[in-house]
Amino acid sequence: MRYFESEVIANQQITQDIFVVQVKRNGAEAAAGQFYMLKSWDTELTLMRPISIFKAEADSLHFMYRTVGRGTQRMARLKAGDPIRLLGPCGNGYPVAEIKGKVAVLGGGVGIPPLCETAKTLRNNGVEVDAFLGFRDVLFAVEEFEPHCANIFVSTEKGAEGYKGFITDLLKPENYDVVLTCGPEVMMRKVAAMCAETGTTCYCSLEHRMACGIGACLGCSIRTRSGMKRVCKDGPVFLSTDLMW
Ligand SMILES: Cc1cc2nc3c(=O)[nH]c(=O)nc-3n(C[C@H](O)[C@H](O)[C@H](O)COP(=O)(O)OP(=O)(O)OC[C@H]3O[C@@H](n4cnc5c(N)ncnc54)[C@H](O)[C@@H]3O)c2cc1C
Ligand code: FES
Repeated sequence: MRYFESEVIANQQITQDIFVVQVKRNGAEAAAGQFYMLKSWDTELTLMRPISIFKAEADSLHFMYRTVGRGTQRMARLKAGDPIRLLGPCGNGYPVAEIKGKVAVLGGGVGIPPLCETAKTLRNNGVEVDAFLGFRDVLFAVEEFEPHCANIFVSTEKGAEGYKGFITDLLKPENYDVVLTCGPEVMMRKVAAMCAETGTTCYCSLEHRMACGIGACLGCSIRTRSGMKRVCKDGPVFLSTDLMW
């Protein structure tokens, strides 16, 4: 992990509130499910913001983010050539090297981006991957999964596109050796419960308010079956059976 100054290559608006910022990689490491702390401001805000690795290319990193507050709205104004500071890679990603067989990646909302690099890595390791992607109404990033997935299932809450309802309705955990999930906690709890019923291994990537992002402030601590854990340093990915929701 290191702190470094980089440069924006592009900052593309995908939907009304979803953007992808591509930054120069400068030799930085990146593994599926890890995240970076980002900062594109000097004094107006103090803390960096945690954003997952969406795509890692040889010379650049892509971060897909939803504008929700001051930090992400400030990021949305970035232009090619602007400076941006990165701290990372942070956390432990999905244990992709250990995963074999048939895998489902299931994401909801901005839990979807980290699953794209994950699907790519698994596919490169010879693992068959299906993607289950749940949206509120407008789709994003679906085409990015196409090269890496055998099947892609899509849902929207009111049926604007794909299946009408929750993406968890479409998952049959018994068809998979491992399920990897990221998104709203209520969705991941449901996935974890479904996997517990069928005895399917399930990993959840938790989202938690973060200050330092590097394990120093303990602000993101959670209780697990194996003691207190910091989401930023010990996670964000946890075995579902270790979590005490
Ligand atoms: C490990 C991890 C990975 C993430 N990956 C993505 C991603 O790929 N794409 C994406 O759109 N969002 C992602 N998020 C959520 C993203 O960090 C928040 O939406 C963002 O920090 C909000 O900042 P803001 O200044 O716009 O909002 P504000 O609400 O103004 O933020 C105020 C403070 O709260 C923190 N905060 C607010 N919401 C969250 C949150 N949900 N999670 C963590 N900290 C929060 C901010 O870091 C900041 O310190 C991730 C969060 C975590 C923990
Ligand atoms: S955010 Fe500081 S320990 Fe996790």
